Amino acid sequence: MAVDTKTADTPSVEDREFSFSTGDYDFLRSMLKEKTGIELGPTKHNMVYARLAKRLRKLGMKTFRQYIEFIGSAEGTAELGTTLNALTTNLTKFFRENHHFEHLATTALQEIRARAVSQGRRLRIWSAGCSSGEEPYSAAITLLRAMPDIKQWDAKILATDIDTEMVRRGSEGIYPASSLEGMAPDIANKYFESYGDDKVRVVAEARNLISFKHLNLIGNWPMKGPFDVIFCRNVVIYFDKDTQRVLFDRYANLLAPGGFLYIGHSENLFGITERFKLLGRNIHRKIA
Ligand SMILES: C[S@@+](CC[C@H](N)C(=O)[O-])C[C@H]1O[C@@H](n2cnc3c(N)ncnc32)[C@H](O)[C@@H]1O
Repeated sequence: MAVDTKTADTPSVEDREFSFSTGDYDFLRSMLKEKTGIELGPTKHNMVYARLAKRLRKLGMKTFRQYIEFIGSAEGTAELGTTLNALTTNLTKFFRENHHFEHLATTALQEIRARAVSQGRRLRIWSAGCSSGEEPYSAAITLLRAMPDIKQWDAKILATDIDTEMVRRGSEGIYPASSLEGMAPDIANKYFESYGDDKVRVVAEARNLISFKHLNLIGNWPMKGPFDVIFCRNVVIYFDKDTQRVLFDRYANLLAPGGFLYIGHSENLFGITERFKLLGRNIHRKIA
């Protein structure tokens, strides 16, 4: 499992290098909620401090108040993007919650193939909140393995995230060799090539299936769909119910009739929407 490198060990409040008041924390917390939909909860001071302290150091600032004033100013617009990148949680892994990829390779592709006769060989998958790309690459590898005739298809995967650094890393497709630990050797050997010291790169065949784009899930979406499958896993855990309601309604609008939505292990749609039917293991089918 990848580690959350954004949060280092945090000094106690007295030893802190930068002053960080409750008011500063509350400001950053509500700004994050407003810009990304992410709700931090009242007790994440230390996490926020640890993730932003290096930015203050780099900018030569002495207090969080100064930093907050800077990101609110015209000169601080670019830094605001960096703040948001630092405060999101990007933990991910190849073939995480593998039952979704198994479902994609079997049931989902079988149904998409059956429809393909009348609708042309079009296949669209969206990895929404893709982090550094392990999720969409797992989907691409799943397609390559399950569809020997993929070249005859118009198959595309859209991978989006609000964190611009994650989008950049995803488009490169370069990972530490350790990220392949636990992966079946036939997959690791066929779909990754070594790339300098202790690094691997996803093969071009899989990279070419994916477009990585910066996109805020609570902002405007340029794409029209329809998608056959949407992955939105481990993203909405920090969104409040109203934000989730709007988001899952928009997913239903963009999914093809009968399309599939995969959500994370600790997420559910109870009381959020009735436009999906739960098939089990956080696999949902659009029904309305
Ligand atoms: C924990 S990662 C999950 C990655 C992957 N889906 C998985 O399950 O392995 C959550 C991702 O959601 C992204 N995210 C959070 N809020 C977002 C928003 N409003 N719009 C787009 N992406 C967002 C974060 O930047 C982060 O990369």
